[in-house]
Amino acid sequence: MKGDWKKRGFSTRAIHAGQHPDPTTGSVTVPIYATSTYVHDALGEHKGFEYARVQNPTRAALEANVAALEGGLTGHAFASGMSAIATLMTLVKAGEHAVFSRNVYGGTYRFLTQVLSRYGVESSWVDSRDLDAVRAAIQPRTRLLYVETPTNPMMEITDLAGAAELARAHDLVFAVDNTFMSPYFQRPLELGADVVVHSTTKFLNGHSDSIGGVLVAKRPEHGEWFAFVSKSEGAILSPFDSFLVLRGIKTLGVRMERHEANARAVVAALVAHRKVRSVLWPGLPTHAGHEVQKRQASGFGALLTFDLGSFEAAKRFLDRVEVMSLAESLGGVETLTSHPASMTHASVPPAKRAELGITDGLVRISVGIEDEADLVADVEQALAAV
Ligand SMILES: Cc1ncc(COP(=O)(O)O)c(C=O)c1O
Repeated sequence: MKGDWKKRGFSTRAIHAGQHPDPTTGSVTVPIYATSTYVHDALGEHKGFEYARVQNPTRAALEANVAALEGGLTGHAFASGMSAIATLMTLVKAGEHAVFSRNVYGGTYRFLTQVLSRYGVESSWVDSRDLDAVRAAIQPRTRLLYVETPTNPMMEITDLAGAAELARAHDLVFAVDNTFMSPYFQRPLELGADVVVHSTTKFLNGHSDSIGGVLVAKRPEHGEWFAFVSKSEGAILSPFDSFLVLRGIKTLGVRMERHEANARAVVAALVAHRKVRSVLWPGLPTHAGHEVQKRQASGFGALLTFDLGSFEAAKRFLDRVEVMSLAESLGGVETLTSHPASMTHASVPPAKRAELGITDGLVRISVGIEDEADLVADVEQALAAV
């Protein structure tokens, strides 16, 4: 794209930012540079590419693209969302401490409590909807505040601008896992965050055919550190996966619109059904975080959770769905449904699950982009079996 991409709209940037026609052939899409190394023109002279753990043009295009969409300075692509999070956490040293939203992705909780805890990094887990609770958890040795909003599966919303102010006042790095919203609906860096985390496995790639992760940094010192750790640890995203995610992102805008429209229809069917006890979706005016979500994001997303009252009822629903598939993960074009208590949150102890509100009757849906009428009909026929 010629000219300044920063002036263009979201979908124009999604399709063009970071990408230039291939200099050799003019190829309109960025090729998959499947190479491990690069020939030097002469000793000490190369084209900026030396070894593919450190630099790869396909990965570089994706990194520039995601940085442009989030409004950051640099992007850094990793082999999974978890390896992006692991790299982020290298900002915190032994003897230091980090504050987390209590309801973050289970893998993040596991990494902090069972891996990093062995290396002297301590963590506190708070209900980050309550900024007083966040403030109370900050210690003199706290270095980082990490928020996921909305959370999974309880759809808790954290006020990002408020949390950013707290982080600034205490000189903390403020990181936000923006996987559920994607930059199409929410851009935490614009609200004061320092780093954005994504599992590209979800909405960014969007087609359930790749595992990956990205960090986007706003400050040069963070970008330099992430590039250094990426080179040193080597958990980079492959050229093929970089290509897939770049391709997925081109349709992010249209997919997110359709995901959300379908979610709204499914929510309406659930809310109207007598067997459904409650529905959690930030787009419902009755949702506790609705007003905050309206203020800080331009949409409500495609993840929703509802309560059928018991494990048996949830099982009957999940065994009966036809268009939806019973599977972990989210953010793909296909609708996936899951049972948080026995699937994504099985490693969370029952007492902690109860504290978080994750009951045995909860079902989560990641609404895809199939035909709305088919999804609503599927929900209704599965509910008939409950
Ligand atoms: C919100 C969120 N963050 C991070 C991750 C980890 O990403 P990955 O599975 O790509 O390692 C997940 C995975 O489900 C997630 O849902």
